Amino acid sequence: MIEKKVSVGAVDLANPVLPASGCFGYGFEMARHYDMTALGGIVSKAVTLETRLGNDMPRIAETPSGLLNAIGLENPGVHTFMKVLLPQLKRFKLPIIVNLAGNQFSDYVSLAEQMEDPAIVALELNLSCPNVKSGCMSIGSDPREVERLVAAVRKVSDKNLWVKLTPNVTDIREIAVAAEAGGADALSLTNTLVGMMIDIKTRRPVLNNNTGGLSGPAILPVALRMVSQCYQAVSIPLVGMGGIASAEDAIAMMMAGASAIQVGSSNLVNPGLIFSLASQMQALAEKLGFSSLAEVTGSLDLWSNRD
Ligand SMILES: Cc1cc2nc3c(=O)[nH]c(=O)nc-3n(C[C@H](O)[C@H](O)[C@H](O)COP(=O)(O)O)c2cc1C
Repeated sequence: MIEKKVSVGAVDLANPVLPASGCFGYGFEMARHYDMTALGGIVSKAVTLETRLGNDMPRIAETPSGLLNAIGLENPGVHTFMKVLLPQLKRFKLPIIVNLAGNQFSDYVSLAEQMEDPAIVALELNLSCPNVKSGCMSIGSDPREVERLVAAVRKVSDKNLWVKLTPNVTDIREIAVAAEAGGADALSLTNTLVGMMIDIKTRRPVLNNNTGGLSGPAILPVALRMVSQCYQAVSIPLVGMGGIASAEDAIAMMMAGASAIQVGSSNLVNPGLIFSLASQMQALAEKLGFSSLAEVTGSLDLWSNRD
């Protein structure tokens, strides 16, 4: 069988399969039923400075080929994460990637400063928080703000910084280049696409938040396009996600340019998939003629002279 090991910059993974933040809890429930060592690592739910209860219900809804959510970053806050959850996560003996979210620059800086534990191999900065300056836009949709924020976190942390991009932008390449200029070690993409579902009987949006983030198979083509565009625009590694529901999807994501992949919404539909995915990808890549999974990264042969 071909080699499964990959690396995302300085982060070595036994295989390229990671759970996407917020779609796997902290792995504790899954660990009761599945072998966690089948994963390349574990990615936490977003950690914020304070405890967050999240948005009011309903905050999750099914859509054609996807899921709309407005959970609102529910989590117990950084103190409980470090004292209670991290020690339990460490028992899995997997590389730990901590997803961080804040309301302002100083939140990210303060969170990053508290992530000194050596078991944490990377910080994944979720930049979908509101941009205080522009009001409704997220920081992640303004290249200058992205560069400034990443540079501010870079100053206080030696950890690998994976910057998680929002797809709700006009040109993802501008944001990717800005994150790289700020000092990102890798980019994670994509987060969810803003959407809305409507209950025509009540004439109300289905989610109490009105809008939510669309994920699942419906967004796979968007994610593949963005990963491919970023692969050509930056020289740092990419972690690809968005709609992966099979080994074929995961291999396509790596061909587009991802060094590792994350599985999100599929965990809610087919919880066993993520645990067999690395072996399935290994068998598929071998069948396709690759001599390692790492070799699949960026092997896409784009038609020339087209965008
Ligand atoms: C219920 C739910 C909760 C999520 N929570 C987070 C989160 O806390 N932090 C984050 O960066 N992304 C979060 N995401 C986004 C996912 O990590 C992922 O980027 C997105 O769902 C696309 O992947 P998928 O199509 O495989 O689900 C969440 C997604 C869902 C569906």
